[in-house]
Amino acid sequence: MSSRRKTDDQLILHPSHSNDGIDRRGFLKCMAWAGTGIVWTIAAGGIPESRLFAGPRHGKETGKSSGGFDFVQISDSHMGFNKPANTDVAATLQAAVDRINSLDQRPEFIIHTGDLSHQSKAAEFDTMDQILKSAHPKQIFYVPGEHDTSVDDGKQYLERYGKDTKGRGWYSMDHKGVHFVGLVNVMQLEGMGQLGDEQLAWLEDDLRAVSASTPIVVFAHIPLWAIYPEWGWGTKDSEQAFSYLKRFGSITVLNGHIHQVMQKVEGNATFHTAMSTAFPQPAPGSAPSPGPLKVPAEKLRSVLGLANVTYLEKNHSLAVVDSPLATADHSSARLLRESLFHRGLFRSNLNVG
Ligand SMILES: [Fe+2]
Repeated sequence: MSSRRKTDDQLILHPSHSNDGIDRRGFLKCMAWAGTGIVWTIAAGGIPESRLFAGPRHGKETGKSSGGFDFVQISDSHMGFNKPANTDVAATLQAAVDRINSLDQRPEFIIHTGDLSHQSKAAEFDTMDQILKSAHPKQIFYVPGEHDTSVDDGKQYLERYGKDTKGRGWYSMDHKGVHFVGLVNVMQLEGMGQLGDEQLAWLEDDLRAVSASTPIVVFAHIPLWAIYPEWGWGTKDSEQAFSYLKRFGSITVLNGHIHQVMQKVEGNATFHTAMSTAFPQPAPGSAPSPGPLKVPAEKLRSVLGLANVTYLEKNHSLAVVDSPLATADHSSARLLRESLFHRGLFRSNLNVG
């Protein structure tokens, strides 16, 4: 029943430890730095530890025996978008690829969490494919965003990226002891995201054979947690999905769609939304509606970026590093996040003691 994809298994491994002096009490304070890059490590029991992206890594930097590995998440490339919020989305996607290619530790694959295109046009997908060809990890796993499916019901997306998937494009794969699940929650859109009964039945079946000690990474376009339902930033039937996931000791959930970093820790689950490679969106509730947010040109790349995820085999934890395309001026990213703190959204969503 399951659709299992295979990952290449020949890339560089490296260990990493997170012990850089930012404890969980510093969580809220640290989130203000997310635009400059932070590692989040979810240790046993779901307690987050963190360190600055620029901080030193502990342990052997280049060892190959730990069993850990890195992968990168990018999201919301919106190829074809050309409004003032970003008139050159190809250039910023290329900058994201350059950033990936310059990472100290080469990631083993890339996950793209949807909105590859802006209008599902063949030329938009072609441009994205062309740019991503220059990425060093050649293996890329996708899930669709609503911009990839709303024009032709996902026909072209599935033809291009849906090989070996089930239903409307969902699948799972195993990589070095971690079980990855790509879900599609954009096909039945009425405001919020939705997974649908067929996919939920598949998910229950897919997870049945996986042991509770296996780390799980779930990725989908629309957040699988209720960030801001008034703007459709949540998934109607995500609770049903989590009823199948709750027995697992480590669950990491990666989403896109909202074009900004937000995190939540709940029990053994860590939820993370990624920046877009194309344009930022306003903080929840800070504008009349969601949509492209125009920031001064010199600040744009500080609110776009990618997430680098490290898996540490020793304690089955995953660490997420958010990295903007430009680090010279983080004021826009900081302002976005500070507005969230002031509105209490981060505080109310966190379960960090
Ligand atoms: Fe998007």
